[in-house]
Formats: sequence, structure tokens, C-alpha cells
Amino acid sequence: MRGIMSDLPLRLENVGLAIGATTLLRDIDLTILPGAPTLIVGPNGAGKSTLLRLAMGLLAPGTGRVTWGGRTDPAPRRRAMLFQRPVMLRRSVAGNIAYALKQAGVPRARRVARIEALLEQAGLTALAARPARRLSGGEQQRLALARALARDPELLLLDEPTANLDPAATRAVEEIIAAAASGGIKILMASHDLGQVRRLAGDVHFLVAGTLRESAPVGEFFDRPSSPQAQAFLRGDIVNDP
Ligand SMILES: Nc1ncnc2c1ncn2[C@@H]1O[C@H](COP(=O)(O)OP(=O)(O)OP(=O)(O)O)[C@@H](O)[C@H]1O
Ligand SMILES: [Mg+2]
Repeated sequence: MRGIMSDLPLRLENVGLAIGATTLLRDIDLTILPGAPTLIVGPNGAGKSTLLRLAMGLLAPGTGRVTWGGRTDPAPRRRAMLFQRPVMLRRSVAGNIAYALKQAGVPRARRVARIEALLEQAGLTALAARPARRLSGGEQQRLALARALARDPELLLLDEPTANLDPAATRAVEEIIAAAASGGIKILMASHDLGQVRRLAGDVHFLVAGTLRESAPVGEFFDRPSSPQAQAFLRGDIVNDP
């Protein structure tokens, strides 16, 4: 249901955030609509994780405002977030998913079938009984995705879910993300992996030192970046100044 309680559009209007003397984000204007994945791209320390935390409602902006479906109440309706470092519960793989389903209010009678479907979706069926903390990094990210999907989100925020993974594990995670996106889930994802951005993005927002420098459809971002910072980043140069 994408009715009146939808979290979309997600809007950041004139959002700024400073902590002490450090400005983390300034003057961010961003609208997240249903559709293909939106990628937040930028170098280390640009403010990508901070922006996602604001979008999730975990942080309040210092200036400006964040709204979900026009509401300022940050209580998540149907959004879920995956953090840069996933935390596994001290349970089996299936147990981690069962816990997420319980938290999401899925009735006990429906959980077994949902666990099976989510294991399948994440390619974890053979590992269902494995203690989650014994999984490899790539397997843990797939489990973290399965747990997030257990909440039946319409908006899924992903903070560099493949940052520490090898190319094969990265592809496996990307396939789950692409399938979720095709199924109608809006993805808002931080990445500094340009190959990944090309593979997944509908639109790209390029962030440097807390400032949005570029917002464009993915093809335009790669073919005709307008800011010198994005041009430098695409060449592989170091970009630190706003
Ligand atoms: N609580 C805080 N107090 C002061 N500075 C902070 C705080 N949290 C984050 N920062 C700083 O804000 C900047 C942006 O951090 P953030 O984690 O959002 O960047 P990022 O783009 O996600 O980087 P990375 O690619 O390394 O994950 C960094 O310079 C970071 O050190
Ligand atoms: Mg980060």
C-alpha cells in the first residue's frame, strides 16, 4: 500500500548539520521519489552516512527539514536501513530472519514461509542453520539485506553494503538489491564504487565535504558531469574540497 501513510516522497529541504565546529552537511536539497535506485556518491568523509541517517530519521537536521510523505514525524512507516557494518544477532541465519519478522509484527503462523522465501531471495537457504556470526562478510551482508526485506519496506536505505566485499560477493549483493528494486522497493544507497553506480543507479547525487555538487540521471553523471569536483572524482583524482 502506498497510500497516505507512505514514506515517499522523502524530501530533504535546505538541510544542514553541524556538530561542534564541524559542518557535516550544508544546504542539502534532495527529493527521493519512487523508481530506480538513487545513489549517493562521494569520497570518504563526504557525509554520505550522515545523509542516510537523516533520511532514516535517526539524526535530526540542525537547519532545514526532512519529510516523509509530507510528514515531519520520523517514526518509520515502511523504511529500513542497512548500516555500513552489519550487526549479527547471536543466533542462526534463520533465527536472525525470524527475529526481524517478529519485530516487524508478522504473525507467527506466517513466519516459516516468509523465512524460507527470504533465505531463497538472499541465496542463504543452504546456510539457514549456520550461526550468523560465523558467516563471511558477503554472507553477512546478504543476511542483513534479508532482515531488512523482512520488514517489507517501500524505502530501503543502504550504506555502502559492498564496501568490504570481493567482486563476486559484490555481484551477489547487487543482484538482491536489483531484484528488490524491480519489485518496487525504492533504494537509496551510498557508494563510492563507480562500477556499482553504473550498474545500479537511476539517478546520482554527488556529495563532497557535506555539499551536493551534482544531481543527474546516471548516464548524464558519467557522460557530462558539470562540476569540476565530479569530473575530478570520475578521473580518480582526490576530491576533498567543496
Ligand atoms: N558525531 C560527529 N562529530 C563530529 N564529526 C563527525 C561526527 N560524525 C561524523 N563526523 C564527520 O563528518 C564527516 C562525514 O562523515 P560520514 O560518515 O557521513 O562520511 P561518509 O561519506 O559516509 O564517509 P565514508 O565513505 O568513509 O563512509 C566526516 O568527516 C566525519 O569524521
Ligand atoms: Mg559512510
